[in-house]
Amino acid sequence: MSVKAEAVEQIAGLRERIRHHEHRYYVLDDPEIADREFDELVGELRRLEAAHPELVTPDSPTQRVGGKPAEGMVAVEHTLPMLSLDNAYAESELLDFDRRAQESAAGRRPGFVCELKIDGLSLALTFENGSLVRGVTRGDGLRGEDVTANIRTIGSVPLFVPVLRREGQGGTVEVRGEVFLPLDSFQKLNREREHQGEPLFANPRNAAAGTLRTLDPGVVAGRNLDIFVYQALVDGQVPRRNHSEVLEWLEDAGFKVNPRWKRCASVREVMEFCQEWEKRRQELNYEIDGVVVKVDSILLQQDMGATSKFPRWAVACKFRARQATTVVNDIQVQVGRTGALTPVALLEPVRLAGSTISRATLHNLDEIDRLGIKIGDTVWVEKGGDVIPKVVKVVEHLRPPGATDFVMPQRCPICRGEVFRAEDEAVLRCGNLTCPAMIREALLHYCSRRALRIEGLGEALVDQLLKKELVRDPSDLYALKLEDLVGLERMGPKSAANLLAQVEASKQRGLAQLIFGLGIRHVGERTAMLLASHFGTLENLSRASLESLESVFEVGPVVAESVRQFFAQAANREIVEKLRLAGLTLEEEHAESATSDLQGQQVVLTGRLPTLTREEASRMIARRGGRVTSSVSKKTAFVVAGEDAGGKLSKARQLGVDVMDEAEFLRLVREQ
Ligand code: IVH
Repeated sequence: MSVKAEAVEQIAGLRERIRHHEHRYYVLDDPEIADREFDELVGELRRLEAAHPELVTPDSPTQRVGGKPAEGMVAVEHTLPMLSLDNAYAESELLDFDRRAQESAAGRRPGFVCELKIDGLSLALTFENGSLVRGVTRGDGLRGEDVTANIRTIGSVPLFVPVLRREGQGGTVEVRGEVFLPLDSFQKLNREREHQGEPLFANPRNAAAGTLRTLDPGVVAGRNLDIFVYQALVDGQVPRRNHSEVLEWLEDAGFKVNPRWKRCASVREVMEFCQEWEKRRQELNYEIDGVVVKVDSILLQQDMGATSKFPRWAVACKFRARQATTVVNDIQVQVGRTGALTPVALLEPVRLAGSTISRATLHNLDEIDRLGIKIGDTVWVEKGGDVIPKVVKVVEHLRPPGATDFVMPQRCPICRGEVFRAEDEAVLRCGNLTCPAMIREALLHYCSRRALRIEGLGEALVDQLLKKELVRDPSDLYALKLEDLVGLERMGPKSAANLLAQVEASKQRGLAQLIFGLGIRHVGERTAMLLASHFGTLENLSRASLESLESVFEVGPVVAESVRQFFAQAANREIVEKLRLAGLTLEEEHAESATSDLQGQQVVLTGRLPTLTREEASRMIARRGGRVTSSVSKKTAFVVAGEDAGGKLSKARQLGVDVMDEAEFLRLVREQ
């Protein structure tokens, strides 16, 4: 054997052994050899690779910490959106979830899988030919940050997974999970930071987030991040029939799956699991904030589908947030982008679940009445959904003699305009469309990262532009000139020119971002994207009837009415016209021309289609004016059935409803 051939063999053997021991140590937490022996193996591999640099591959265990720090993070689009989870705080909400699952299961009892809800950050790992090629954070769900160099340093993330090469058959395998910082590592990190006079991390989650965004993988390697994975997609498809089998498959492949998951045959068992872990959470070396309940059958998951934000087949049962008491120093009113007047309690600062809280939303007058809260009261606060703190209860016996009632202002606190309460709404709104608070919030929203992303146009600058009356609405941004900006506080010729370049660049962000940026009520990022791809141009959207709006996949009557109302206002139409004149992209580049040959028809999708995802098929139907419904009835125009189609297919046959496969469906929609 030649020297080279020998080295190839030795290197391959060492890598396999090292991978095995990494798995034992980082994933199973059950090493077979001492750390020193392990280091010796790695040392030997390093020596061999140094002698044969041409044999070094990125998935070698010696390549966890790459060469030099990154310049910055790069945004990457997710192949499939990374959705969030709907929360259930009360038992009744879990029962509702169970009922919906049962309805979709058409009489059969749906099985569930319960998992711990790790309080970390979700991450998508991409493998090609078995090798890890990319790690991307969730970001806004559609686009995240490329953190590959950093996650390669996480010992429990395998760099090469032989099974995936076979299973993926050359295609892409995506594995999703939650990155977290174990509690002991978090405490150690903060102790070190305290020692060095550096600011402390508020909680393990912030520390994990900060670490993931560090530009130097060497620093990340020393922090001890870890990951639990819970999802797998082989070429966009779930590789097993049940979620529990996916977890087992992931574990067998060598990933770290949280061992505390359980199959539950009934909602009773689910509740027991939740209660057990709410009590036992202290035993764990990582923070959890609830239990995730998932429908086990992937087919049923597909039947249940997803809203624009969450899958309908899963729910997060949140543990009661930790609570604290503090004093309400004052109650002020804030005016938001939609004119909503929100009373906010200004609190004596208090530490709660890792951060300091000094404000809490009181939502509206009904909520203030319900709580019976007065200024001066001592209250219990809690982190609702663990982000926005809220007041949950007044401690009445601690009420001081001078406590005063809050009076909702009869006029907008910002513009003194009249306020009104819309039918069936608890909130009061400022009715003045030119209220400075609304204009300010609308502008900030328009410039925000997820909308037109005009970097540098933050609160301070927007306030100055408004004060100098340089802008009133987003379209005015495009008329700004260099001389308008130079001379504003902290604005030299260079930053002014940069800002103008940003404004110019925002013209090309795309139709979906623009629709989102307009701040139409109830139109979030994803709905904006669906509207953009359905209507293709802003012009079409602005003229759309309620009926055609409602025919868009995932758009219901509330959103449709809101869009119609927005474009019915002359002031908004004027803004849109000014944006057009400024040269903004008002067309979706790849929009398919909308036809309406399925107008008003109800279509049911069932089973796994060979090439289309459910979402793609649904969008094709929606674009042609059809509507995807979840159950088969006499009103169903036809059923598109794929592999493993179950109850819906038999129901269709029974009722004599047309059934077609994907090929026929594609012919139908393409012919039209
Ligand atoms: S499943 C489409 N399982 O919780 C379903 N998520 O509040 C995707 N999380 O964004 C999520 N532990 O970051 C799932 N066992 C678990 C989880 C989990 C933590 C996070 C995840 C998600 C967030 C939603």
